[in-house]
Amino acid sequence: MKKEENVFTWSSNRRAFLKNGTVAAGAATVGAGLLAGAPSVFGEAGSGRLTPGDAAILRFLAAAEILETDLWRQYNELGGIQDSEVPGGSGSATYIAALKVLDGDMDQYIHDNTEDEMTHFTFINAYLASKGADTVNLEPFRTLPQFPGIPRDDGDLTPPEHIQAIANTAGFHFAFIEQGGTSLYPSLAQRVTHPEVLRILLSIGPTETQHFQTWQDKAGNAPALTDPTNGLVFPNLNAPPFGGEDFQTNLIMPEPTIFLSRKFPVCSIIRPTQTEGAAMGAARALTANGLFIGQSPAFFAALRELAEEADEAKPGR
Ligand SMILES: [Fe+2]
Ligand SMILES: [Fe+2]
Repeated sequence: MKKEENVFTWSSNRRAFLKNGTVAAGAATVGAGLLAGAPSVFGEAGSGRLTPGDAAILRFLAAAEILETDLWRQYNELGGIQDSEVPGGSGSATYIAALKVLDGDMDQYIHDNTEDEMTHFTFINAYLASKGADTVNLEPFRTLPQFPGIPRDDGDLTPPEHIQAIANTAGFHFAFIEQGGTSLYPSLAQRVTHPEVLRILLSIGPTETQHFQTWQDKAGNAPALTDPTNGLVFPNLNAPPFGGEDFQTNLIMPEPTIFLSRKFPVCSIIRPTQTEGAAMGAARALTANGLFIGQSPAFFAALRELAEEADEAKPGR
């Protein structure tokens, strides 16, 4: 097989980038661990001119956005458009071709989603700093692969069903990640104090929803197949035993559901938006996804602390 890319070059570029301290992130494949909290920043965090609650919510969101950024950067390095807006990658023609089976614009969307996440955490941290509040910084951690969503080396580029299974995995993973942000912002917005902090959450949150809407449509285009190297099955979601309203892949709009109380008529909404325990719920979902396998106890302690402080926030405090 022709070596079309050198993953080692890609990796070392990435580490060099990390050393510059431009972005705090870790290397990961899907289902792999990433990121560590620098314990010092998570001590008694200062809120400056923000209420402690608003600062805690913004810090948890900054952490979530750093995680999103790290994940998207890794996808962009091999699956996205390579340009100065999202530097550090090399692109993989084989991986991109498999991604484009889901949609011809996948590389563009991956690039743009990555750029969005970079702006989200950079903005939130800059806003915290402008108010004299502590910001969030996450240090890189090592990773362990499960079913990969990114080719790990040139050996993953064949056979065709294997690289397609990797692209399919990425397609579903994109939607999973963005679904989290879609719920997290409205959930936490209910407990902020300052109108400007509310404005930040109400402005960033819908971009996460746009991301989710895009990716759930693309996941529906993932072709049915079985990966011959590991047995991973992508079933035909439009045929029995699947199919129908629960699986039909072109059903991408919200469905009417119970909202606030069963005494009201059903309503098409984003959910869940229950505010109690929302940050810890997000932390738990990311952990259950396997993103943090192999991480140190210090990482989990830091993530838990950020989430707990965000969940303790109440309007006025
Ligand atoms: Fe984001
Ligand atoms: Fe996002």
